Amino acid sequence: MFEGVLGNSMLWKAVNRSIAEYSFIHLREYGNGPRKQVDDTPYGGGDGMLLMVEPLVKAIAVAKANDPTATVFLPTPRGKVYKQSDAKRLAASDNGIIIICPRYEGYDERITQWIDESFCIGNYVLTGGELPAMILIDSVVRLLPGVLGGENSTEIESFQQDDETIEFPQYTRPEVFQDKAVPAVLLSGNHAQIEAWRKQNGRH
Ligand code: ADE
Repeated sequence: MFEGVLGNSMLWKAVNRSIAEYSFIHLREYGNGPRKQVDDTPYGGGDGMLLMVEPLVKAIAVAKANDPTATVFLPTPRGKVYKQSDAKRLAASDNGIIIICPRYEGYDERITQWIDESFCIGNYVLTGGELPAMILIDSVVRLLPGVLGGENSTEIESFQQDDETIEFPQYTRPEVFQDKAVPAVLLSGNHAQIEAWRKQNGRH
């Protein structure tokens, strides 16, 4: 699932420029018994299978051996909602990031004792942690110096000042498309008025 996202565009450029590095651990390699079992039925009954604590703790130990100061993240709908301020905080940190990708139905709650932070990417439920993991990676890596190639554009974009502020709308050629015109003020050349319009039309 990760290849298409990490193998393209800015996320791949970051690897080529030695700014970021990604590696994968297959949980099944640390599964129990000859069948390499990684999930089991819940105590107390109920539908579905839960990710077991033991294979996961073994896999985290291997990841930590590669990167001892890395922070361990768990994507879960029960986590705190992930914001741009989190992306900035993680991009500014020198620590690596380990992300566990559970499949839903869920996980043995005891795994949370090996987790540093849990995060939720929105109030909806996905089938697994892969997409939330990729969202976290994308939002952090694009902020690393050198990834967006000499741009200072992240400074004026949405959510950069705080988690609420949205960037103003922008337009390019043509001036009129199917009766829809670019706001006249943007063509005026009046920088003070343009600045005022942009302030008014960004959302706070
Ligand atoms: N796993 C399943 N749904 C999720 C969500 N909304 N956020 C983080 N992890 C999840």
